[in-house]
Amino acid sequence: MEHNIQRLLDEIKSFSTVKPDELEQFRIKYLGKNGILNNLFEEFKAQPPQQKQMLGKLLNSLKQTASEKYNDLKNNIDIAGKQETKPLDLTLNATNGAYGARHPMSIIRKEIIEIFSRIGFTVADGPEIEDDWHNFTALNFQPDHPAREMQDTFFIEQNPDIVLRTHTSSVQVRLMQTQKPPLRVIMPGRVYRNEAISSRAHCFFNQVEGLYIDKNVSFADLKQTLLYFSKEMFGSDTKIRLRPSYFPFTEPSAEMDISCSLCGGKGCSMCKKTGWVEILGCGMVDPNVLENCNIDSKVYTGYAFGMGIERITNLKFTVKDLRLFSENDIRFLKQFKNNI
Ligand code: PHE
Repeated sequence: MEHNIQRLLDEIKSFSTVKPDELEQFRIKYLGKNGILNNLFEEFKAQPPQQKQMLGKLLNSLKQTASEKYNDLKNNIDIAGKQETKPLDLTLNATNGAYGARHPMSIIRKEIIEIFSRIGFTVADGPEIEDDWHNFTALNFQPDHPAREMQDTFFIEQNPDIVLRTHTSSVQVRLMQTQKPPLRVIMPGRVYRNEAISSRAHCFFNQVEGLYIDKNVSFADLKQTLLYFSKEMFGSDTKIRLRPSYFPFTEPSAEMDISCSLCGGKGCSMCKKTGWVEILGCGMVDPNVLENCNIDSKVYTGYAFGMGIERITNLKFTVKDLRLFSENDIRFLKQFKNNI
């Protein structure tokens, strides 16, 4: 009997694929009521007791092998059957998933970087958590400057003061400390100010600042660079105007307006009927700042400028409410998917 079971095991294992009617024959022959297995179990009962343990094991494994093989053969037939009735149509359209898109401010930040890259500016980054020296002192802020008050700036620690940077000018300081001029760099990044949130202000926003330090850099270079940027960004008809202003770290300082990109300078609600919109602050780097960063102010001069990316994005896409930029509302974000 042992020999017989071994032979049947080999026989069953040798099946690979069968047709549906052969599968039924397989079932009747091995697993059917009068099939080989049931007959063997009958035969088993009459075996001598000392052989029963060994034969029982063998018989059970034969039964298991036969049922598993039956299931395998059946599965193969099912799969083949499905393929026959539903052939793959390779010409059907693929099911499209939802594609993401760039955030409107990422689109504009990328554009700003591209415009300045074309005239040799590189890109630098720095920490958002900054010490007092890099954010204020090195930039010539007096000890009683209002930006150093709790109501204007987020303090993380006091004495020594650690703050959330209020501008990316802190990155300028880090660059001037670690690199030798000439320096020609822009610094995009997130900055924080302690402001009540409204459609026109938020407690964080994004800036791009620029810095150029070399021998003989003049205000004329600054003006020409900003004119080039404005024309590239808002169109070749764009005009600029500079108004005197004050920043602790630049001297002289100015605010720059561009002719309104919406009405072309005629006057509309965007420019409050003036024909001009303010987009950035700028100036010649104060010699004190250069000296604080160990750059010889008798040899080198430089200019700096800083703009809010939200502001530029507003002008390009006429987004009226600043809060939309950080609310992650998919209905808002979807509108920019063609602007990549
Ligand atoms: N740091 C200034 C701000 O945050 C912008 C600025 C940068 C102005 C460089 C002048 C020069 O408003």
